[in-house]
Amino acid sequence: MPIREPVFNPPFNVVRASHVELAVRDLARSRAFYVDCLGLLVSGESDDALYLRGVEERNHHSIVLRQSPTAEVHALGFKLASEEDLDRAAFWFGRRNLPTSFPDLPHQGRTLRTADALGMPLDLYAQMEQSACMLQQYSSHLGARIQRIDHLNCFTPDVQASYDFYRELGFRLTEYTETDDADAKLWAVWMHRKGNVHDLAFTNGFGPRLHHIGVWTANVLDIIHICDVMATCGYLSNMERGPGRHGISNAFFLYVRDPDGHRIELFSCDYLTVDPDHAPIRWSLTDPRRQTLWGQPAPASWFNEGSLFGGLAQREPMLQARPIVAA
Ligand SMILES: [Fe+2]
Repeated sequence: MPIREPVFNPPFNVVRASHVELAVRDLARSRAFYVDCLGLLVSGESDDALYLRGVEERNHHSIVLRQSPTAEVHALGFKLASEEDLDRAAFWFGRRNLPTSFPDLPHQGRTLRTADALGMPLDLYAQMEQSACMLQQYSSHLGARIQRIDHLNCFTPDVQASYDFYRELGFRLTEYTETDDADAKLWAVWMHRKGNVHDLAFTNGFGPRLHHIGVWTANVLDIIHICDVMATCGYLSNMERGPGRHGISNAFFLYVRDPDGHRIELFSCDYLTVDPDHAPIRWSLTDPRRQTLWGQPAPASWFNEGSLFGGLAQREPMLQARPIVAA
C-alpha cells in the first residue's frame, strides 16, 4: 500500500505530542498509582482534576486526570509552534468540515478543540503555563523517574486513512508494519514531528481508541526498577507486558495498566530521526522480532483492549490480518 513522501511544508506547524486528558472513576485511587507509584509530579489539582508532569517537563501538564463516572479519554493534546499556527489550524479543520471550538481550559492558552477525519478528539494549542523543571532536583525523582511524555498510540479501523491524514499535517513515517501479500496493506505506522521515532502511532484494530500513552525514562534501569516497585507495592497485576526491547523503535519498554485500565508505556532509548532523507523501516506482520526483539509475543489483551474516546463510536477494522499473539 502507498507509503508516500513526507510533507515538509504542512498547513500548520505541530511541535510534538503534548498531553492527554483521561477520565478516571476514582481520583484518589489514580493519584496513588500515577504519583505514589509511578512518581509523576503534581503540578496542580482541583476538586475534580489532577495535573501531572515528568521531571524535565516545563509545560504545566502532560497527563490530566479528571474525575468522571466513566473511564474514557477526553482529548489528545498537541503543541503548535505559534498562535498563528493555531489560527491556520482552525482554518484548515474548518475548511474540512471538522469541528472547531475554543473551550477555556485551565493552565493553557487558547486551545482549538477539534477532531481528525476518524473522529479522534484533538486539543491544539501553542502556549501552556510553565512549571519548574525538576531535572536536576534528583531527590524528587521517584518511582519510574519519568522525564516526559513521548508519544500517543491509537487503534484505528483504517491505518491507511489515519496515516494519510497525519502525513498531510507533516507527521513523518519512521517505521511501519504491513502484510506480506502482493497487495500489501498497512497494519501499523509510527510517525513523528519532534525528531525521534514517534509522536503518534496507529495500530489496526477496533477503533478509534487510545492504545497507550508512552512516557520517557532516561535509562533501562529506571524501567527495571519500577518492575521491582510495582511487584512489591500492590500493582503486580497492573504489569501487562514486558519488560523487553521492541524491534520497532529499538526502545526498551514496560506496559502497565492504571486502575481504570488506561495503558501507560514506560519507554526508553529509541533513536534520532530528524534527517529529511531518513527512510522508514518496513516490518512484516509475521516477524516476531517486530513486537519484541527477543521474540516474545504480546498478550491478547494488548491487541484487544484500549481506552474509549468519550462520545465517539468505534468500528471494526477494515483489515482482518492477525498478528502473532501469546498463547
Ligand atoms: Fe508506544
